[in-house]
Amino acid sequence: MRKSLIKDDILKEICKGKIVSGGLLASKLGVSRTAVWKAVNALRAEGYFISGEVGGYMLSPYNTRLCAEQASAAIEAENIIFKNETGSTNEDVKALAEAGEKEFTLCISCRQTGGKGRLGRVFYSPDGGLYFSLLLRPRLSAQTSLKITTAAAVSMAKAIESVTKQKAKIKWVNDIFIKGKKVCGILTEGVFDVESGGLKYAVLGVGVNVATPKDGFPAEIENTAGALFETSTPPSLLYFAIVNEFLKEFRAYYENIDLMPHISEYRGRSLLDGKCVTYQKDGKTHKATVCGIGDEAELIVEENGKRIPLSSGEVRITDYE
Ligand code: BTN
Repeated sequence: MRKSLIKDDILKEICKGKIVSGGLLASKLGVSRTAVWKAVNALRAEGYFISGEVGGYMLSPYNTRLCAEQASAAIEAENIIFKNETGSTNEDVKALAEAGEKEFTLCISCRQTGGKGRLGRVFYSPDGGLYFSLLLRPRLSAQTSLKITTAAAVSMAKAIESVTKQKAKIKWVNDIFIKGKKVCGILTEGVFDVESGGLKYAVLGVGVNVATPKDGFPAEIENTAGALFETSTPPSLLYFAIVNEFLKEFRAYYENIDLMPHISEYRGRSLLDGKCVTYQKDGKTHKATVCGIGDEAELIVEENGKRIPLSSGEVRITDYE
C-alpha cells in the first residue's frame, strides 16, 4: 500500500476519540506494525498531534492541523466536502449544486486562494481561518437572501459567543464584530432560474478569522480586522465546535425562515444603533443616524429629519474614519 494511503487510512481510524492499538491498525490495513509506526511518525512530522505509543494511537482533540477525517467525524452534517485549499468554497458549492447535491451539503476549507467578499471584494483567507459554504434550496423568493444572511449572522454570533465567551455584535448586514473588530463575514449568493425567475438555490458562505494570521492582516484591513484567538494555532476542536453550533442555530431558524424567527435576536445584537454613518446611493455619499432594524432586517436611518429604510449596500461608521 502507498505510504500516503496508509496515512489517510490511519487518520480515519484514529480520529474517533478512542485509542486504537498498533496491532489492530496493522491488521485492518493489511500492513506491518512497523509500517503503522512509521506512518504515525510521518503524520506527527506533518503537524498532527497523535497521542499514545505503546497502548495505541489517537488523534488528539487538541490537534491543530485540520484534516478531512477529523472534520467528517466531528462535524454534525451529512454531506461534508473538506479541502486543504480551494479557490472559493462558494464556487465549489455552486458546482456541487449544479451537479444535483442535496440541501445542506457543506464545503469547508483551511484556506482560499480566491475568497470572495461582498460587493465584489476579495476576502483574505489565509491558514488559521474557517471558511465554509452551505448549499440551500429554499422554496422562496429572491428576498429570502436577506433573511438567510441575517439568520446566518445571528447563528454565527451565537456560535462564536458560545465557543469564545466573548460578546459578538452584528454590523448590518452581516459582519460580526468582537471588541470593535470584524471577525467574520458572510456572503449569500442566489442563483436564479432563467425561465421562472425564481431562486434555484442559494449558497451561504461564511469566513471566520479564528486565529491571528501568522504574518498579521494585510495593511488595508489591519485596523478593522480581528481574530477570535490570539494564537495562530488554536486546536481543531474549536473550529468544529463553531461549525456545529452554527449549524444547530441556523437549521432551527431556517425551518421557518420566511417568518424571520431571528429578528429580535438580530436587533439585540445590532452594532449600529444610534451611530452616525455614511452610505452611498445614486453616486452620492449620504450622512445619517441609525434608528434601528426594521421587520424585514432593513436598516432604518434618519437623514434630514426623514426615516429611510436601506435594504442593501453597506454603511460606514463615521467615528471610525
Ligand atoms: C464579506 O465580509 O465581505 C463576506 C465574506 C464571505 C467570505 C466567505 S469565506 C467562505 C465563502 N467562500 C467565499 O469565497 N466567500 C465566503
